[in-house]
Amino acid sequence: MAERLTFPSDFVWGAATAAYQIEGAWNEDGKGESIWDRFSHTPGKVRDGDTGDVACDHYHRYRDDIALMRQLGLKAYRFSVSWPRVIPNGRGAVNPAGLDFYDRLVDELLAANIQPFLTLYHWDLPQALQDLGGWGNRDVCGYFADYAALMVRRLGDRVRHWTTFNEPAVTAFAGHGNGEHAPGMKDEKLALQVAHHLFVAHGLAVQAIRGIDPGLNVGIVLDIWSAETMTDSEEDIAFAEMIWQARAGWFLSPLFRACYPPMAWQRHGDKVPDVRPGDMALISQRLDFLGINSYSRTVVKNGEVLRSVPGSEYTEMGWEVCAPAFRRLLTRLAREYPIPPVYITENGAAFRDVVSPDGGANNARVHDPRRINYLREHFTEARLAMNDGVDLRGYFVWSLLDNFEWSYGYSKRFGLIYVDHATQQRIVKDSGQWYAQVIARNGIARNGIDLSDTE
Ligand code: FCB
Repeated sequence: MAERLTFPSDFVWGAATAAYQIEGAWNEDGKGESIWDRFSHTPGKVRDGDTGDVACDHYHRYRDDIALMRQLGLKAYRFSVSWPRVIPNGRGAVNPAGLDFYDRLVDELLAANIQPFLTLYHWDLPQALQDLGGWGNRDVCGYFADYAALMVRRLGDRVRHWTTFNEPAVTAFAGHGNGEHAPGMKDEKLALQVAHHLFVAHGLAVQAIRGIDPGLNVGIVLDIWSAETMTDSEEDIAFAEMIWQARAGWFLSPLFRACYPPMAWQRHGDKVPDVRPGDMALISQRLDFLGINSYSRTVVKNGEVLRSVPGSEYTEMGWEVCAPAFRRLLTRLAREYPIPPVYITENGAAFRDVVSPDGGANNARVHDPRRINYLREHFTEARLAMNDGVDLRGYFVWSLLDNFEWSYGYSKRFGLIYVDHATQQRIVKDSGQWYAQVIARNGIARNGIDLSDTE
């Protein structure tokens, strides 16, 4: 019999989504326009002209989706709130219908015994605030804290885990550096200033949330990949270290060491952000948890980032599958930074899934053995990292549903549940069924648990 890896009895198994990627109903019931509405409606910005106008129609189908979560046995669900759905202009008047939606969602989750983990910002800034300069304008930080307070007052009695930002690095660098994401700006100096403002907004929101209920768990979610070398050459080791400091360190250091990483700061020259007195103390307030989103690693060789590591498997995103790097990442984080308890808030893989009607017309199946392998390997490495001393409390698979994958539109499928985007039909993939077994058994067999495993 295969060796089993079990998890602590209170380990939180979940799945994650984000508002713009699944909700749809982009202009219904008083919702305001977001920068992602504007961006996806601009020709040429998103592959095939896809938009999140309808997405997974989750706004109307949340009850059915929660029934599916229950079927998987999820213990927790990570979702985000669309800021312009609840405050259409980002500040000022509140939209009661928008707040009611999240109220019903949370109640339905709790009725299904699923813990809600709420993210306040997963990239869909109200367009009205972008018109004021968006995250380049420091005033927006205060509006964000007001929005956080509004949500906590409404849901704080039932939602106990609050995340301020999802992947601030992506908002800063993809939204303002290379323009791949909304609002589509290409200005390195602005990107670094935006990153700083996101930190300030985070700090103000942490204060606002704790000011209302000091018992809430507050955290932030960072996207972090390890930076590794193929050789032992000193140049490569130094290059990988620079990549780590400029990307991961740029976000970890302010939060957990109250300063920007000196090596990366110097490298940015006159592009460094304007930092006001008191900012670093505000930014580095104690957190209750750190969320890590990690999918792959960065590998350097001979002074270059490798696009393809010989012999490695790649997902549809062009991301290398390398689970051992996941363990190395977690242990490095815990060793080098004074971090709070960790949740994996996103991990998963996109593959080209197809529906096979082998169970009959009413029982279509999606066989996705590569995703099962990917998840099994990453769960295993995460469990080994816990043996190494990493205080990991939970794991959210990205994603519950196939959804709108930002500038790739609907071309990438990450779901445990297949979504036919034309009909909105949902089909639990083999990986979803496998995950349900992992949750039910609270563990995995180290050398291969699969759907036929009936031990
Ligand atoms: C992360 C995002 C998430 C999803 C995955 C694939 O960067 O947070 O919304 O797009 O990547």
